[in-house]
Amino acid sequence: MVASTGPVARGRLHGQVAVVTGGGSGIGRAVVDRFIAEGACVTVLERDADRVQDLASVHGAQVLCVDGDVRDPSIHEETVLRTLRTFGRLDTYVANAGIYDYSARFDDMSTEDLRRGFAELFDTNVLGSLQGIRAAVPALRRQRGSVIITASSSSSYAGGGGVLYVASKHALIGVMRQLAFELAPEIRVNAIAPGATVTNLSGLNVFDQQDTRLQGVPGFQERTARSLPLGFVSTPEDHAGLYVLLADAADSRFITGVTLSSDGGLAVRGGGRRRDNTVKERT
Ligand SMILES: NC(=O)c1ccc[n+]([C@@H]2O[C@H](COP(=O)([O-])OP(=O)(O)OC[C@H]3O[C@@H](n4cnc5c(N)ncnc54)[C@H](O)[C@@H]3O)[C@@H](O)[C@H]2O)c1
Repeated sequence: MVASTGPVARGRLHGQVAVVTGGGSGIGRAVVDRFIAEGACVTVLERDADRVQDLASVHGAQVLCVDGDVRDPSIHEETVLRTLRTFGRLDTYVANAGIYDYSARFDDMSTEDLRRGFAELFDTNVLGSLQGIRAAVPALRRQRGSVIITASSSSSYAGGGGVLYVASKHALIGVMRQLAFELAPEIRVNAIAPGATVTNLSGLNVFDQQDTRLQGVPGFQERTARSLPLGFVSTPEDHAGLYVLLADAADSRFITGVTLSSDGGLAVRGGGRRRDNTVKERT
């Protein structure tokens, strides 16, 4: 007797298409892997050629890699055009690529440092996101699609970076809110705000931080874990399901203009400390 295999389960994003900027590493990479596992095809706009190669070899025809920099105004039209040519539609745009300032202190910066640091960080984190979303709007509108912006706990609080990074992540909440208002009713726009996450997040070229990696900073993981109610530092995979939720209109069609936090309880910590101040094993 031949056993019935039953219906094949479809992923939550079966048949959908997404663009993810900075999808070669960290949070973006986890989102790409998860979207593909949920049945989507994904275009990745990424500046690191080795990461682009790895994505292509792991995901084959389900991924389209565009080698480029989000600061380049012409790369975004090309990214959307190639996505439409390859996959035929665009449902979700994830504005994720970003860099950090490694808590560069305001009063240590010369006026010239401030000007150059601002330009590099805001061109990447804020203007890079705006340019990408702008290019995606017509295709997203056709699908009644959605934009997801990677914000941060630094979108709400001081102390998770220097003034340039914290200001850029606050600015992205303004971008998300205004675009949720302007692009409704066809396009939903939301943000996800991860707390400290073990990634390769790199710093500013103009401050010579381009080779610094967040996960390599001595004591970063232990210090952060100790400060959080949940007692551990997140991995990129801890946030990826939230991106699926917001991309999946079946479960989030009434959600726009919202920031979902994924921060280990940072928001409720206040000045308090956990009674048990040990670092928890992630299970
Ligand atoms: N790691 C954290 O603790 C943390 C916390 C909250 C928010 N975030 C945000 O998450 C996002 C992703 O960062 P991550 O931590 O995964 O770091 P990551 O460095 O591992 O990943 C970012 C990716 O973006 C790419 N990228 C950077 N600048 C680019 C540019 N100009 N053009 C194209 N690609 C570019 C990088 O090459 C890298 O592959 C960023 O917006 C960051 O601000 C990170």
